[in-house]
Amino acid sequence: MPVLQVEDIHKSFGGVRALQGISMSVEEGEILGLIGPNGAGKTTLFNVITGVYKPDKGRVIIFGKDVTGWPPHRIALLGVARTFQIPKPFPDLTVYENVLVSIKFSNRRLSDLEAAEEAKRILEFLGLDKHAHMLAAQLNVALEKRLELARALARQPRLLLLDEVFAGLNPAEVSYMLEKVKLAKKEFNLTIVMIEHVMHAVMEIADRIVVLHLGRKLAEGTPEEIATNPRVIEAYLGDPKLALAFVKRFKKQG
Ligand SMILES: Nc1ncnc2c1ncn2[C@@H]1O[C@H](COP(=O)(O)OP(=O)(O)OP(=O)(O)O)[C@@H](O)[C@H]1O
Ligand SMILES: [Mg+2]
Repeated sequence: MPVLQVEDIHKSFGGVRALQGISMSVEEGEILGLIGPNGAGKTTLFNVITGVYKPDKGRVIIFGKDVTGWPPHRIALLGVARTFQIPKPFPDLTVYENVLVSIKFSNRRLSDLEAAEEAKRILEFLGLDKHAHMLAAQLNVALEKRLELARALARQPRLLLLDEVFAGLNPAEVSYMLEKVKLAKKEFNLTIVMIEHVMHAVMEIADRIVVLHLGRKLAEGTPEEIATNPRVIEAYLGDPKLALAFVKRFKKQG
């Protein structure tokens, strides 16, 4: 049974047809990369999966349950967590308190002492223990992204949706986060869907990739298939020849 299935999802905002018949499924333990140019509909698809938006048409099935139209908190309680493209911590709480709040508002039944220990474990896992007492508002982009991931892990999800956790990071920080996502998958037994623009990173980490373009599914396949698919390259860069050169370069770097 797939962990996540979306079937023929449609979603419009006024005249903007953000999603036009998206179907895909994600198997347990998989890392699925979700890529596509700006405005392709990637974040909208996350918002439909997590119940922020009700689709105009189509179904969302998580762990075999049809959750279409469920409110976000009910879907979250099934064991679904996400990070936001623009991180959403509580700015006036410390890093530690932010993680603690996520633990407390999940369906985990931990005593205060257990919750505190769990928060520390997650902070250490992401190298945030040294910054535990900083206010979230004071974090730089790299630490903010780590906290966003920490808050999602704190909910002990089985399905984790990551929206551009590498965006804005320098190459060293991308490598750090890449390793952490790989480790988190093993250590926390996760199935992951990740939206990503940092191509070499998503090519390295994803088992499979789905490409959205203008609200439709343009392609689906292994990273190798996607990196050499002329339609994908054209969607990204307009010029297939130039794009191919680009792809070769980032594959080498990755
Ligand atoms: N709440 C909304 N109201 C109106 N239009 C929206 C809304 N959310 C998304 N859209 C539109 O839907 C389309 C898809 O947006 P979406 O944010 O899903 O793209 P994306 O693939 O995540 O892009 P990016 O890579 O830039 O984050 C865009 O045209 C966007 O302007
Ligand atoms: Mg987006």
